[in-house]
Amino acid sequence: DQNKFQAIISHCKEYGFVFQSSEIYDGLSAVYDYGQYGSELKKNIKDYWWKSMTQLHENIVGIDAAIFMHPTTWKASGHVDNFSDPMIDNKDSKKRYRVDHLIEAYVETLPEAEGNAVLARMDELLKENDFAGLKTLIEEKKITCSVSGTSNWTDVRQFNLMFSTQLGSVTDEANEIYLRPETAQGIFVNFLNVQKTGRMKVPFGIAQIGKAFRNEIVARQFIFRMREFEQMEMQFFVRPGTQKEWYEKWKEERMQWHLSLGTDPSKYRFKDHVKLAHYADAAVDIEYEFPIGFKEVEGIHSRTDFDLKQHQEYSRKKIQYFDTEINQNYVPYVIETSIGLDRMFLLTICNAYEEQDLSTPEKADSRVVLKLPAKLAPIKLAVFPLIKKEGLPEIARELMDSCKPFFHCFYEEKDAIGRRYRRQDAIGTPFCVTVDHQTKEDGTVTIRYRDTMEQERVPLTEVRNIVLNKIM
Ligand code: GAP
Repeated sequence: DQNKFQAIISHCKEYGFVFQSSEIYDGLSAVYDYGQYGSELKKNIKDYWWKSMTQLHENIVGIDAAIFMHPTTWKASGHVDNFSDPMIDNKDSKKRYRVDHLIEAYVETLPEAEGNAVLARMDELLKENDFAGLKTLIEEKKITCSVSGTSNWTDVRQFNLMFSTQLGSVTDEANEIYLRPETAQGIFVNFLNVQKTGRMKVPFGIAQIGKAFRNEIVARQFIFRMREFEQMEMQFFVRPGTQKEWYEKWKEERMQWHLSLGTDPSKYRFKDHVKLAHYADAAVDIEYEFPIGFKEVEGIHSRTDFDLKQHQEYSRKKIQYFDTEINQNYVPYVIETSIGLDRMFLLTICNAYEEQDLSTPEKADSRVVLKLPAKLAPIKLAVFPLIKKEGLPEIARELMDSCKPFFHCFYEEKDAIGRRYRRQDAIGTPFCVTVDHQTKEDGTVTIRYRDTMEQERVPLTEVRNIVLNKIM
């Protein structure tokens, strides 16, 4: 549903969740900034992941590696040679397309059986890196460019997705370094550092959250596919031969993490990778049903001992683990869980966004509400004095001060209460409290719940605990 997706994008901007990067200069393609509420929501998602991975797993520790790494890292990992997509340019519009996306878009216009045949042929050609064959397929099917409408194509070429820059002042190839396209390699190259200094015993994991950069060619769809994004990755190091078991375990555990946020399970599905990367012996995506269809949010990959072995070879340093239980030295196998933070953010907003018609026979009314899990909401509690006088703001301020050290609160005294509630609904605040004249008499306040819009009177002194109970 493109309309719903567009409405969500507008909402994200209007309420300070996501802005286009450098918008006053007309923006930078596929780069976005998180605003006042977006950065809070993003941080809460990050914290929720970090806590569940590290604090709740005694055998997983976190690191924070640099974005820049020695350039040989990317030789060893295969990114210099393999992290590229076949592209084709339209000579008239000068638009560049990923070949698979161009063909897939064309296939959408065909009857299913015919489309599947084209996709099967494309897959075959991609697998064989047969670029001439891909161009022939595009020409044969008279696939046109969506901008120029012509089928005047260049040859198919490989296009590496890594951004490069220069280290230091001398600009020659030897100083060329890359912005990391995944955070995982920072974990692999630190395997021995962490294992030794942390006295970690296999099986154990290393978790990390950080920026990654990819010069994506098809970079549309808002924050779904960005050129600068954040990943939350965990590499779990296991004894060779046990990887299948750990892969299954992590697959289930990661799905449970998603469901622990209260999302409808029917919105999620697993999608096995049909074509495995050269380093993987099993791989699956966790997909979520966005308004634009089921899309990948997270990948769980059984990466074998490929990465550690590659780094061992390229660095000429022994990367092994001595397993005292079986008296053996080995290069551990790795199960990786890799989730895009920005995609999880988009999922969270899409899942929470609701337009509600609240009309009664007397009055037309509606609201937009973000039913965010209380744990993730940018603001947990909004505090409103009913009016701006008669001592009500003072009581409200006192409540603010007693809650502020524990969770994020918001104070507002302008406008009618109903308007103030609606503004909080739109940013997903689960609780609003109103201080009125009765508060002065009996020490109670009205607490109003976002999802049901129900209100009840509770002792002022209880408010902090009510909120804490829901967000811990
Ligand atoms: N270390 C494994 C790895 O990087 P990936 O499937 O390429 O695997 C993992 O990426 C996750 O990172 C994806 O599931 C997705 O959530 C996120 N991701 C990848 N490219 C992205 C992009 N251009 N913009 C936003 N998120 C992206």
